[in-house]
Amino acid sequence: MPLPLSSKHRVSIIGAGKVGSTLAQRIIEKNLADVVLLDVVPGMPQGIALDLSEARGIERHDCQIMGTTDYAETAGSDIVAIAAGFPRKPGITRDELLKTNAEIVIAAAKQAIAHSPSAILIIITNPLDALTYLAWKATGLPSERVIGMAGMLDSARLQTFIAEALGVGIFEVNAMVLGGHGDLMVPLPRYCTVNGIPISELMDAATIEKLVTHTRNGGGEIVQLLKTGGAYYAPASATAVMIATILGNQSRLLPACAYLDGKYGLTDIFVGVPCRLGASGVESVVELQLTETELTDLHASAQSVRKNIHEAIALLENF
Ligand code: LAC
Repeated sequence: MPLPLSSKHRVSIIGAGKVGSTLAQRIIEKNLADVVLLDVVPGMPQGIALDLSEARGIERHDCQIMGTTDYAETAGSDIVAIAAGFPRKPGITRDELLKTNAEIVIAAAKQAIAHSPSAILIIITNPLDALTYLAWKATGLPSERVIGMAGMLDSARLQTFIAEALGVGIFEVNAMVLGGHGDLMVPLPRYCTVNGIPISELMDAATIEKLVTHTRNGGGEIVQLLKTGGAYYAPASATAVMIATILGNQSRLLPACAYLDGKYGLTDIFVGVPCRLGASGVESVVELQLTETELTDLHASAQSVRKNIHEAIALLENF
């Protein structure tokens, strides 16, 4: 049954696995938008959508959700978030998922954008920096309308670890993690603060280094524990913040995977950087004055994203 078009925003989520379905829940329960949840498995997105919509009487939100296997039902989306693909499992790195997930994400992005040509595309599937680049190439969308998710997720993890280490509430804690969403991500302790106070004034260098390492291993640690897949609550939260920012035209300055055309000395690549996000997608990329070490680390991380992009293009037929 088609979702009756309301005056609300419409977000389509491609992939109704753990991340996609949790994201759907976050979006409707925060009253952000109507959701179309799409998956290739017949019945699954419909069942999840029905279950989520039956909670409306308790959660008391106004958003509708429908599940479908048909891209035509996603037409008119303001945002398309792609979470389709295989999750990480123990012993499999993010990069090994490359070929399979590249094929899935490229096909999903092309089909979704064919039905919603004005949408903003958010890529969640790993390895997400490389897949964001490939989705941009495959759809031909302007680069500001294609964004990868992970900076918010990695920064949220670091925020949590800082709050726990200091025994302070999370509200005043801000953190910034740049680079690709991989082992070479670049947490920036210089830009981590507690109510404006740099964390270097509140904890010693060894503790900061421990938190940085914990952040880098954050996703992998959850994969090791779950054994059947990766994290989904925090990834869904991070994506929901980006969606709220875009739909609300909030111009928030958040870390996200965005296209670089010279900033940070990087060109023709998508990688995590601080962005101003608003109704048009990435409104601008903010170029921080990085130290030599930070910049070297960012370039090393970008280089591993570039390697993934080249490997994927070599593996894919007809790209
Ligand atoms: C993580 C996976 C989703 O970081 O990449 O949890």
